[in-house]
Amino acid sequence: MNPIYRDLKNKHVLITGGSNGIGETLTKAFARQCAEITILDRDYQKGLAIAKECQQYPCQVNVYGLDLTDSQALVETLTKIRKEKPVVNVLINNAGYDPRYELLEMSEKDWNDLFQLNVVHYFLTCRELLPDIINAGGGSIIMTSSHLVWIAKPNTIAYNATKAAIVGMVRSLAEAVGKHNIRVNAVAPGWIMTERQLEQWVTPEAKHKTVHQLQCLPLELTPDELVGTYLFLASDTSRAITRQTIVVDAGYAHS
Ligand SMILES: NC(=O)c1ccc[n+]([C@@H]2O[C@H](COP(=O)([O-])OP(=O)(O)OC[C@H]3O[C@@H](n4cnc5c(N)ncnc54)[C@H](O)[C@@H]3O)[C@@H](O)[C@H]2O)c1
Repeated sequence: MNPIYRDLKNKHVLITGGSNGIGETLTKAFARQCAEITILDRDYQKGLAIAKECQQYPCQVNVYGLDLTDSQALVETLTKIRKEKPVVNVLINNAGYDPRYELLEMSEKDWNDLFQLNVVHYFLTCRELLPDIINAGGGSIIMTSSHLVWIAKPNTIAYNATKAAIVGMVRSLAEAVGKHNIRVNAVAPGWIMTERQLEQWVTPEAKHKTVHQLQCLPLELTPDELVGTYLFLASDTSRAITRQTIVVDAGYAHS
């Protein structure tokens, strides 16, 4: 259902959290675009399995297994990639986690750990990769936020704070690097029925209410519904679009 963007062919696309869920679907979608994809994910074996699956396309998928909350390991891995692989043209900061807490019943460590994954790794990838992207004459950075920034559920205070931080980071970073022909945008997904969501949080009642009462469109959202937006933002087709957060949630949030 998605178009082939010819400019994405052979582009180097780095995706954090590219082994499962939304990231897995994005990896496969960019493989169909014949891109060169680098996955950073702690689920190394699943990443390898996806790389094998993608061999049906004329693409390359490189997998690096690491914990993205380990800043030193992340910086070392990015240094290695900078030496060994072509410059990253499209950076997709995507890995994240969405714990629920009653009010603020979390420790300071829980709060900081969540920021380490949902925000700090986004900052570090940008800091480490930007000099090369600037030297290369431009690129596209896409960050995964969430529509919960606008929905603001009471049991996801910490998560919403991390995802709002991403919206702020996108707006300032876009201002800072636009002159280098680098675009920075966010995608804010609605409730996406990934394997983990289905296992951890989805109940038939909650899903039914979301799809049939809270969303404008009665669509059960899967990662496939997000692909078109990421591909569009990665491609030169959206060359005049930067500093934006695109909410893809079938009309649930009033952003
Ligand atoms: N699924 C949804 O409903 C939804 C909605 C809005 C936003 N999001 C956001 O989308 C992004 C992807 O979410 P998802 O639902 O696909 O999640 P997921 O759990 O299905 O996949 C996340 C991937 O990130 C990897 N990962 C997680 N923590 C890691 C760590 N510390 N080090 C290395 N890799 C790690 C996992 O191994 C996995 O491959 C997240 O930022 C999430 O907050 C998801």
